[in-house]
Amino acid sequence: MSGLFISFEGIDGAGKSTHIEGLAEAFRAQGRRVTLTREPGGTPLAEKLRTLVLNDAMDPMTEALLVFAARRDHLQQLIEPALARGDVVLCDRFTDATFAYQGGGRGFDLDMLGWLERQVQALPGTNTLRQPELTIWFDLDPAIAAQRLAGARVPDKFEAQPLEFFRRVAAGYGARLAQAPQRFARIDAARSREAVWLDVLAAVRQKNWLS
Ligand code: TYD
Repeated sequence: MSGLFISFEGIDGAGKSTHIEGLAEAFRAQGRRVTLTREPGGTPLAEKLRTLVLNDAMDPMTEALLVFAARRDHLQQLIEPALARGDVVLCDRFTDATFAYQGGGRGFDLDMLGWLERQVQALPGTNTLRQPELTIWFDLDPAIAAQRLAGARVPDKFEAQPLEFFRRVAAGYGARLAQAPQRFARIDAARSREAVWLDVLAAVRQKNWLS
């Protein structure tokens, strides 16, 4: 069985976590082995970089370089071996988050992000890049996301950003979708958890990856 790579995206507070767990269970119930992981993070080194990125003040280029450094280690140590074994890899955020947060939110140079993406995700011996086969984007109005997050927990560096930052992040996701519409399933995350879950399942079933 060949591996599957699915990523999950959205602004903070869009509510992706429970659906990632649910999808992992659905795949396991059909006998698939699942690797559940996240970015930044997923390996011991990348988790250390995550702690820095989420907590320490740094300039936008440093932030972009650290998320791509974490991604490189994650791909080499965890994602590629899992895909080679035939696992379903479910990844909570991937490179679209870099284009949305560092590109959209911080306003960092998109061409440089594109260059880093090509270096970090190049598949040796081919001229293709490692990308998710499907990206499920939980699209939510930043004002609603802010209400959902309010008082939920101590905010990290990104969660503490103003509404305007998340409007730019959301626009960044929209721009990524426009560049690769066939890769994305955009889900309206303003509805009930059940309605969102049915859309998540439908997006995966449409690919014939789940019956
Ligand atoms: P998140 O995925 O929301 O995890 P949790 O639910 O545990 O808070 O946190 C990751 C944060 O990192 C999120 O605010 C987005 C940010 N991020 C970037 O800025 N760039 C990236 O490339 C990635 C992967 C994440």
